[in-house]
Amino acid sequence: MLCSLSLVLCGLLAGTRADPGGLLRLGMDIMNHEVQSAMEESHILEKMAAEASNPQPGGKAIKGLSNMKVKDVLEPVITLNFVPGVGISQCVSTGMTITGKSFTGGNMEINVVLNITATDRLLQDEEAGTPVFRSEGCEVILVSVKTNLPNNKAINKFVDSTLRKVLPGLMCPAIDAVLEYVNKKWAKLTDPMPVDKMGTVKYALTSPPATTASHIQVDFSPVVQLQEGQLIQLATDGSLPEFPEGSAKDSQLLLSATFLTAELALLQKSLEVKLKDKR
Ligand SMILES: *[C@@H]1O[C@H](CO)[C@@H](O)[C@H](O)[C@H]1NC(C)=O
Repeated sequence: MLCSLSLVLCGLLAGTRADPGGLLRLGMDIMNHEVQSAMEESHILEKMAAEASNPQPGGKAIKGLSNMKVKDVLEPVITLNFVPGVGISQCVSTGMTITGKSFTGGNMEINVVLNITATDRLLQDEEAGTPVFRSEGCEVILVSVKTNLPNNKAINKFVDSTLRKVLPGLMCPAIDAVLEYVNKKWAKLTDPMPVDKMGTVKYALTSPPATTASHIQVDFSPVVQLQEGQLIQLATDGSLPEFPEGSAKDSQLLLSATFLTAELALLQKSLEVKLKDKR
């Protein structure tokens, strides 16, 4: 009787959550750093500018403007905000100078300051099990447009509407390219990490990552494996880790006792070997 009761209880507990391992809370501090460095490492805006200056066959050009070149791309200012239940809203503020020969034959220069906005939806990759960002609803907002042409309403309107047509196709791929960088970092989370030659630890997501007003919460379960391939079982009766109420906005990592125990078991093996070596 007691036996079957405990089986039922175990079943219930296992159903609520598998292997309590750890909780990772990513705050704005980490997300800002990740997106900023992705933007810098990918040199994406400069690449976009170079591409615009050398349009591929079939690529879009600005009508009425030949010899188009994009130069002096301003250092982007990136603003991120958490959107609960969705992911992150991303705004990249930048500017650039577009030069070319205008339809009247003169040299034309357009200084444009713009915001690229998009929603980065946080999903779980079905196959790899890692979190992934996908961008949605990219828009380019013109903050200011200045030209060296005479201040003429018709010309201003032409430039404005042309930019509105051309810029999204030019700038929105930048958002996707940055996310690709960030997603690659997520993917590394599930790569096995060696622990002192004795074995490896890797992380598996136990539920889709969740976005709150102040964090992205990643709920994971570690798989601790010995070099010979044997898995170290995590006890399933450990208490679930919980963050203290109203805790800081910065990133935090919470590891369960069961996880630490498993990881210690791995280190203990490694210590045994070292002690034996000494003899
Ligand atoms: C452009 O983005 C900046 C920074 O997020 C913001 O302060 C500004 O209001 C935005 N401008 C427009 C026109 O949306």
